[in-house]
Amino acid sequence: MLPELLETARLALRPFTTSDARDVYSYWQSDSGWERFNAIVPFDFTETDAQRFVTEMIGRNREEHPNWAIVLQHSVVGVVSLSFEQDHRVCVIGYGVHGDLRGRGLSAEAAQFVIEKAFEVYPQLQRIRAQTDSENVASIRVLEKLGFLHEGTLRANQFVKGDWRDEAVFGLLRSDLSS
Ligand SMILES: CC(C)(COP(=O)(O)OP(=O)(O)OC[C@H]1O[C@@H](n2cnc3c(N)ncnc32)[C@H](O)[C@@H]1OP(=O)(O)O)[C@@H](O)C(=O)NCCC(=O)NCCS
Repeated sequence: MLPELLETARLALRPFTTSDARDVYSYWQSDSGWERFNAIVPFDFTETDAQRFVTEMIGRNREEHPNWAIVLQHSVVGVVSLSFEQDHRVCVIGYGVHGDLRGRGLSAEAAQFVIEKAFEVYPQLQRIRAQTDSENVASIRVLEKLGFLHEGTLRANQFVKGDWRDEAVFGLLRSDLSS
């Protein structure tokens, strides 16, 4: 299993606790991208939705669906999550940070650390996949910085807040790390 507690140069990563809902609500509010691009963030969300999100994160099986609250100076400022498939041979990554902290490389830092750990802990892991709204340019840039390749676009693959969205698919193979 991946460690519950991780530390990068600037961030601490740890499991969510029920008292994190207020911080989650605050980072969801900080940027329209959360509501616009993420199906898990409801339209016109409330603090109760943030509580539901935290409860869901806590309830996920950490072997199959590990997730971490990103902590900076004692506040939860984002999330990074993995979802393993096919006996840990493939996984899907998701991430995000508070709007006030964008552009400082924090999402890339958290995601990079978790990716390295996942390849280390699971020798059978060959591929990490990310799917992002094709208009989410900041997220696409994060993936490019991490070495992911754009593999294609799934047209009208997500129905988000009343709108069909195209999703860009990105992949990072274990072999990409050495090339
Ligand atoms: C997408 C998101 C995770 C990026 O987080 P971040 O911490 O700002 O990411 P980083 O600082 O590591 O990198 C962002 C990159 O995108 C670039 N960028 C940001 N906005 C951009 C824009 N409108 N056009 C082009 N590039 C943009 C930044 O310049 C930076 O690239 P650089 O390091 O080469 O300068 C953040 O905006 C977010 O949390 N959004 C809401 C949740 C979300 O959409 N998550 C992704 C779901 S797939």
